[in-house]
Amino acid sequence: MSSFWNWYIGIIAVANILACVWLIRWTAKKRPDEKPAHETTGHEWDGLTELNNPMPRWWLWLFYATIVFGLVYLALYPSFGSYAGLLGWSQYSQWEQEVAETEERVAPLFEEYAGIPIPELAEHSDAMQTGRRLFENNCAVCHGVDGGGRVGFPNIANDDWQWGGEPEQILTSILEGRRGNMPALGGALGEDGVEKVAAYTFSLSGRDAPEELVSAGKELFEQRCVACHAADGTGRTALGAPSLANDNWIYGGSLEAIKTSIRDGRQGFMPPQKDLLGEDRVHLLAAYVYSLSMDERNGAAEDVADGGEGDE
Ligand code: HEC
Ligand code: HEC
Repeated sequence: MSSFWNWYIGIIAVANILACVWLIRWTAKKRPDEKPAHETTGHEWDGLTELNNPMPRWWLWLFYATIVFGLVYLALYPSFGSYAGLLGWSQYSQWEQEVAETEERVAPLFEEYAGIPIPELAEHSDAMQTGRRLFENNCAVCHGVDGGGRVGFPNIANDDWQWGGEPEQILTSILEGRRGNMPALGGALGEDGVEKVAAYTFSLSGRDAPEELVSAGKELFEQRCVACHAADGTGRTALGAPSLANDNWIYGGSLEAIKTSIRDGRQGFMPPQKDLLGEDRVHLLAAYVYSLSMDERNGAAEDVADGGEGDE
């Protein structure tokens, strides 16, 4: 709150108190015995008149007591500008104290978790419950409660990674943040070129597109795209270039969305969490994110053990 409001509200409070003092003194000017016995206010309803008697003393003292209470309250608690009050209490200091107390309680737990390697921590059910709460509070706004993502925010609950799914890579993504850069190629390719290469990109995930566009687009793709997205379109995690060869899309897999990605470029930004959450919490979050794709990882490992013949 700005100091203007601090002063403004304090001054109004005091002005109100002074006005009450004046009002009480004004209405109670005369003691009961100084008044003629039957003076009326002049109001009359159906023959009933209102007597103009002063307030009873005890009532008056009740009013004075509330005024004293108000003044004492103003003196004890923060009331004007930066005046902290005789008690030194404020909502901020109370909040800070509560945060500090909570931190003191939970910090050793996060520290303990931070000592456990990520794949191992990902199997630790208590830790993963805490991880889920952290995720819901800090990550779900963008990546969704289940980590499934939405347009512009990648799915981090599957085993298809833009920046890599190794524990260290996930940790780096969260700690340092990520900035993807898909250059706008509309100018270089022309609308005709965008059309062709988009058709080829569309076909990479096993969907049908007009044959002549696809073969012309393949040539353009080899010239313009393989440096980042690799020859088979599976992407390069070192550059954050996602795979275009499966059906997981960050910005949408319709022909229109693909054309927009190519024509106008895309610049996704994952905000770094190091300073916001600290390294210990990020370690736990990395384990939680790792755990989200654990079934897929294990499935893939079993597939390999079965000789690659999973029954999906
Ligand atoms: C300089 C490296 C680079 C080049 C060259 C490049 N891309 Fe990309 N592309 C990226 C990166 C990085 C992203 C992810 C952008 C982000 O994170 O916001 C991306 C994203 C995309 C997407 C969106 C994917 C999704 O999941 O929604 C499409 C489609 C795409 N690129 C197609 C192409 C095509 C087609 C070409 C060639 C004409 C191309 N890119 C050339 C780096 C590149
Ligand atoms: C403001 C939105 C936002 C928030 C909040 C956010 N992220 Fe992200 N995150 C992104 C975007 C956008 C990307 C993709 C960056 C790019 O295009 O290169 C991303 C990428 C990632 C990646 C890399 C994914 C991959 O496929 O390699 C991980 C891991 C990740 N985020 C985890 C988290 C975690 C954990 C949190 C919570 C602490 C979090 N994010 C909070 C927007 C967000």
